[in-house]
Amino acid sequence: MKLSIIPAPTVAGYLQGYTKAQEKVNEVYESRIPPEGYSLHIENSITLKASTKAGFFYGNQTLSQIKSQCGQNLQNCHIEDSPKYKYRGFMIDSARHFFTVKEIKRMIDNCAKFRFNVFHWHLTDDQGWRIEIKKYPEIIKIGSVRYGNYFRNEQNEKIYGGYYTQEQIKEVVSYAHENFMRVVPEIDMPGHTSALLAAVPSLCCGGKEVKVKTSAGIFKDIVCPGKESSYKILFDILDEVINIFPDEYIHIGGDEAPKNQWKSCPDCQFKILREHLKDEEALQGYFINRIAEYLESRGKKTVTWNDSLKSGNLKDSVTVQLWMDKKGLCNKCSNEIIASDFYHCYTDYPYAMTPLKKAYEYEPELNGKVMGLETPVWTEYISNINYMEYMCFPRFIATAQRAWSKNKIPYKEFKEQLYELSEYFSIKGMAPYKDWDPPKAERPKEIISHFGSIAPNEKIRKLFSDKNK
Ligand code: ACM
Ligand code: ZN
Repeated sequence: MKLSIIPAPTVAGYLQGYTKAQEKVNEVYESRIPPEGYSLHIENSITLKASTKAGFFYGNQTLSQIKSQCGQNLQNCHIEDSPKYKYRGFMIDSARHFFTVKEIKRMIDNCAKFRFNVFHWHLTDDQGWRIEIKKYPEIIKIGSVRYGNYFRNEQNEKIYGGYYTQEQIKEVVSYAHENFMRVVPEIDMPGHTSALLAAVPSLCCGGKEVKVKTSAGIFKDIVCPGKESSYKILFDILDEVINIFPDEYIHIGGDEAPKNQWKSCPDCQFKILREHLKDEEALQGYFINRIAEYLESRGKKTVTWNDSLKSGNLKDSVTVQLWMDKKGLCNKCSNEIIASDFYHCYTDYPYAMTPLKKAYEYEPELNGKVMGLETPVWTEYISNINYMEYMCFPRFIATAQRAWSKNKIPYKEFKEQLYELSEYFSIKGMAPYKDWDPPKAERPKEIISHFGSIAPNEKIRKLFSDKNK
């Protein structure tokens, strides 16, 4: 019988005959097997070989999928498997909407089934700051609460808040580790910082008063990189972040930071002159580099969204996460890249815009600089865990397979296997099969209905024009 295994193994050969499912699994350490890889041999007995605990974990997952299909008599087979990319990530935005520790663990459980090994946790944004910082208690007191919710499908005056204590974060980190997953926190800066600026106004150009935002968007209130005091506060915050996230990487955002205020801020303009910077974009490069140097001094590596490449002076040692790179700067740079292209990997947009097939067919070509793939779920329009699962699954699984598997199985076959295994994976809110690839004729209506009044139809059409598909 032909077995369905997701993510698809590197090599799977079928052998004659069957083996009893209740045979004990012989786990054998074997140093030749790559980290996270495994070898599984089923023929009269069951032998699982690996060189790491993660390898045994993944091998047992494969065995469990085989058992779910074969019942008492396992198809004899030999499997050799190891990952294509060392970074296989998913991102959850806990800032726009807050998800409890229990819900975050539920997503970790779901994602561990597909061998994701990085949980990128977007913890701060304009609409809420969600991580306790002990040195500045006002950041949670003010920054974690917003007065009203004016999102597409949610319009009310309710007070909305939530944050994670440092103890809760440690609990999530250790839960992720039990599932062979690292956690990379994102503290977004200099943009997407309204919630921080509301609590610490001195971080803003001119010390302007800012409110925690109540709607989606890109906002002009951003951190002032001209003042030395900004760095002192940000380093203090990052010191606490470093203490609770043991991972080698810290993500510092860098996306969608409009430079309007920097243009008229005397501190920012003085910094540009003094550091001989070309313009405000170069000032963003200077800012990200300063933070990265600090993190390096504390033994950490930095990740920034690809917007920071516009500076022209970003340090090579900073890892770049590609999300929208219309100018192809990720091709030209020499930084290590995490690929998470908006048109393929974002799961907060409807299936009509990003059908499962489009997610599956993502193939970043960046001259060998890709460290891995990631699939983010932003939550401006996602306020509960069931809907999050609907949006992420199965699209997360498509990215997981492409990140793990060296073997590019045709889409049709992947979809059939996924359908066959969907009950086994048992993800409560997972989208039903009929929604995975909506018929072409129905897509424009669904896309326009998703965006509602946010953007004019013309703008939506341009965004999803053929050139972007
Ligand atoms: C992003 O989607 N603004 C990274
Ligand atoms: Zn400034």
